[in-house]
Amino acid sequence: MNTKLYTLITGSSEGFGKALAIECAKRKMNLILVSLPNSGLSQLTESIIQNYKVDVVPIEKDLSIEENCVSLFKEVEQMNLSVNILINNVGLGSTMFFKEGSIDFYQKQVKLNVMVATLLSSLFLEMLKTHQPSHILNVSSLSCFFYLAKKQVYGATKSYVYSFSKSLRAELKSDHINVSVICPGGMNTNPTTIMTNQSNHWLARQSIMNPDKVAAIAIRELLNQKEIIIPGFMNKLFLLIDKLLPDFIIKMIANNHVNKFKSYNIGNKNHGQQLISQASQP
Ligand SMILES: NC(=O)c1ccc[n+]([C@@H]2O[C@H](COP(=O)([O-])OP(=O)(O)OC[C@H]3O[C@@H](n4cnc5c(N)ncnc54)[C@H](OP(=O)(O)O)[C@@H]3O)[C@@H](O)[C@H]2O)c1
Repeated sequence: MNTKLYTLITGSSEGFGKALAIECAKRKMNLILVSLPNSGLSQLTESIIQNYKVDVVPIEKDLSIEENCVSLFKEVEQMNLSVNILINNVGLGSTMFFKEGSIDFYQKQVKLNVMVATLLSSLFLEMLKTHQPSHILNVSSLSCFFYLAKKQVYGATKSYVYSFSKSLRAELKSDHINVSVICPGGMNTNPTTIMTNQSNHWLARQSIMNPDKVAAIAIRELLNQKEIIIPGFMNKLFLLIDKLLPDFIIKMIANNHVNKFKSYNIGNKNHGQQLISQASQP
């Protein structure tokens, strides 16, 4: 077995996953980066190797297909790579009324947001147990705490990730596997999300964070073995307000705020560009 240790990050060609990869490389952690085929992963790999002098292994797979999760694990084993940190980042976002989404889209969203984190945690469990301590970081969302219109399936998948992480943490404590969950608010990661973030209410716009900053907080707090990571002052404040104000006021604020969101599902990669050109029209 290769004596080097690796951090495996899913969905790492772009957005928050890419920011996490760069943050880990800055900390001299070797990487296994997993993203869709033809997603620019080889260019990112070259650039990280050149800039940070760490080992980077790119693996291109569509993780929404269950067998690919299994073949990912087998490839890692066959290459004799030893994973001590698993970061379940890959996820499909959406902001739309339930009737606007297709069955195919919801199936893919549930598979990517729920099944991939579950399957990979299970597949890599024995390998993680061989290192002390080892870590699993699951990427949830602040929306897992608020039951928002236009976020029904997305929010529910992120509630699953939150609940799964907390239970798994309790269970794996005796194996010295730390499980942390991060719940970011809005991050400017891709054109579609940037556009949705811009259409937010003023107060919500104050909480939008740069993915690089969130990634630095995520890795620092993961290594500190923090259970729940809420990045940013404004996001912590939203959670506090949620605890303090009566439920009906929270619902009023939240739904008034959500109705301002433009509908999108991130499965449509051109949608952000379409929204941007619509917005720039007089
Ligand atoms: N952005 C936010 O405001 C925000 C807020 C809270 C939580 N989050 C969570 O943060 C995570 C990352 O979000 P993001 O905004 O960075 O997303 P993103 O910009 O869409 O990036 C997603 C990454 O996953 C890859 N990917 C997509 N489908 C895949 C598949 N089937 N198999 C393998 N890789 C796949 C993408 O590759 P391609 O480039 O090839 O598509 C890309 O590298 C998600 O779990 C999301 O729910 C995001």
